[in-house]
Amino acid sequence: MVTRLLYKSKAAFPPYSVVDVDILRQAAPQNSENSISGFLVRSGWDYLQILEGPEPHIRSLAARIREDERHFGFHEILQDETTERSFVDWSMGYLDLSGGKSWLTKTLPDLTCDSSDDIKQMTLIELKRTALEQERRL
Ligand SMILES: Cc1cc2nc3c(=O)[nH]c(=O)nc-3n(C[C@H](O)[C@H](O)[C@H](O)COP(=O)(O)O)c2cc1C
Repeated sequence: MVTRLLYKSKAAFPPYSVVDVDILRQAAPQNSENSISGFLVRSGWDYLQILEGPEPHIRSLAARIREDERHFGFHEILQDETTERSFVDWSMGYLDLSGGKSWLTKTLPDLTCDSSDDIKQMTLIELKRTALEQERRL
């Protein structure tokens, strides 16, 4: 089984900041080393990240990320166990959707742990769709 964590937070730096590049440079090799797959979306001041991997690694990474001063307001949307990874192809994918009009950018501001299961599942589906679309464009 694989642990899956979806959280959102507020960025401490504006969109298109070099800070996001620093985060990615740091995260990608560490995630690969720890069998973690993940995808980070930025939309305005909102971050949304999915992380998948062995439970102890996800737990310790989440604790580190929570304390990171490059963002604040870490809010867990869902954590569960799954048999299959959805983001196996990404150690740390990233996309800035700032200014866009997608379902994700519209939904993100109001997304919480109390959102319905349908909204949470739709968020995961849209995240995957966004990741695949970006890959096709590269
Ligand atoms: C929004 C956001 C997402 C992050 N995602 C990851 C990640 O997926 N993997 C990772 O290793 N670090 C990630 N980091 C960086 C961690 O918070 C931390 O700085 C990094 O893991 C290094 O920790 P260490 O210095 O204790 O080794 C993220 C930071 C932020 C602000």
